Amino acid sequence: MFKLETIISLAKRRGFVFQSSEIYGGINGCWDYGPLGVELLLNLKNAWWREMTFRDDIEGLDASILMHPKVWEASGHLMQFSDPMIDNKTSKARYRADNLIEDHIAKLRKKNKNDEANECEKALGLAQEPADFYKIIIDYGITDPVSGTADWTDVRNFNLMFKTFIGSLDDAASTIYLRPESAQGIFVNFKNVMESGRQKIPFGIAQIGKAFRNEINTKNFLFRTREFEQMEMQYFVKPGEEKEWIEYWKEQRWNWYVKYGMKPEKLRWKEHEKLAHYANYAVDIEFEFPFGFGEIEGIHSRTDFDLMAHQKLSGKKLEFVDTVTKERYVPYIVETSGGVSRGLMAFLCNAYDEEITEDNGEKRVVLRFHHKLAPVQVAVFPLVNKDGMPEKAHAIYKDLQKYFKTQYDTSGAIGRRYRRQDEIGTPYCITIDGDTLANNTVTIRERDSMQQETINADNIRNYLFEKFTE
Ligand code: GAP
Repeated sequence: MFKLETIISLAKRRGFVFQSSEIYGGINGCWDYGPLGVELLLNLKNAWWREMTFRDDIEGLDASILMHPKVWEASGHLMQFSDPMIDNKTSKARYRADNLIEDHIAKLRKKNKNDEANECEKALGLAQEPADFYKIIIDYGITDPVSGTADWTDVRNFNLMFKTFIGSLDDAASTIYLRPESAQGIFVNFKNVMESGRQKIPFGIAQIGKAFRNEINTKNFLFRTREFEQMEMQYFVKPGEEKEWIEYWKEQRWNWYVKYGMKPEKLRWKEHEKLAHYANYAVDIEFEFPFGFGEIEGIHSRTDFDLMAHQKLSGKKLEFVDTVTKERYVPYIVETSGGVSRGLMAFLCNAYDEEITEDNGEKRVVLRFHHKLAPVQVAVFPLVNKDGMPEKAHAIYKDLQKYFKTQYDTSGAIGRRYRRQDEIGTPYCITIDGDTLANNTVTIRERDSMQQETINADNIRNYLFEKFTE
């Protein structure tokens, strides 16, 4: 297992991810995607979008981030989307009470105090109100990791939605929120999409978009951030049929990660014990990050909670009428909700590898991305910068650039140029050498096997098209 710091350092050095507003000291929980990061992000979203919407029963949507404030009243986010928070009066440090308790449980386990750890874990599992968390912190004598004191405030619920104002008045009447999940944009458009897309139950709506949460503890790079992107699909089903659709979507989503190169042994299922206010069943796909397993996508059975709530508050019917059976009902919803940025981090960790090469015993750092996710698809090099090779190589590069994300590199020994591409995960490198000028052949080197193939220069484009449609 490689260290997260090693991966973060590569991500910064090679232009995948930068800290947001870095020249001002950065801003917590926000990140910027550099030239390679944005390509990886787009490829990931594209892979998801194709998988989800290139089928008959799923339509796409791009709803606005700012929505009517009543949306958040109906969805329950105004009342319930909060984390229990506690402050230490001496250090002024602020914690999520549940995280503080979890860290304490981990410490107990390290000290082999398993009975106490189990007891504390049980109490945490039952905790619902702020007072329940406070009691555990006091009962177990949990102290502040910074000041070492137990000089705690009460536990209070802290709403995670970012507030802002619409229009020119910053008063309560003009308060709106940045959406904390993209899902609500789908629910309020359920009828619009069903009718315009001439869909019938069961069908789904897919959306990729930003979401914002004022997380108390941002941590672990892109894992928990305040601004992030989600790729969500809400599947509308007949009440009573949700269980079979949950099974179907579980399988689909697991297979998608594996299809795009996720090592199955790094994935696992985790059923929720504590359910969000809208769900009656939830299971996560977890990935083994360098800091341990963490959720990358949730598959949730949201029942008719959301549509019923919007129907009630808006006064607009959100039903489906079956024209054959004449049945009329508010559909149940099965949701697949993945994080794009968290997914990107998982794919980055999954791809990172180091090996000692057989030819010269040097360390080779390689990102083993699935070729459809790789930010650069092909690189072109002239073997030497003379004898007409750069001109020929540049012409090939310019041709390929019309179809593929291509890089051209003339600097340093050829081995170093391969290493530079390995480090960013480029699946194919093409070298133009003396044979190219003599008989129009080039060598294509594949990243993982490092095998080289000789092909006719006129066939490069088709060769790559075939590879990238595989
Ligand atoms: N609509 C349901 C929903 O939003 P969630 O489990 O809160 O469910 C779904 O979030 C996914 O969004 C998570 O699996 C994760 O990948 C991503 N996500 C949630 N909060 C995040 C955060 N603060 N930073 C990065 N990704 C986050």
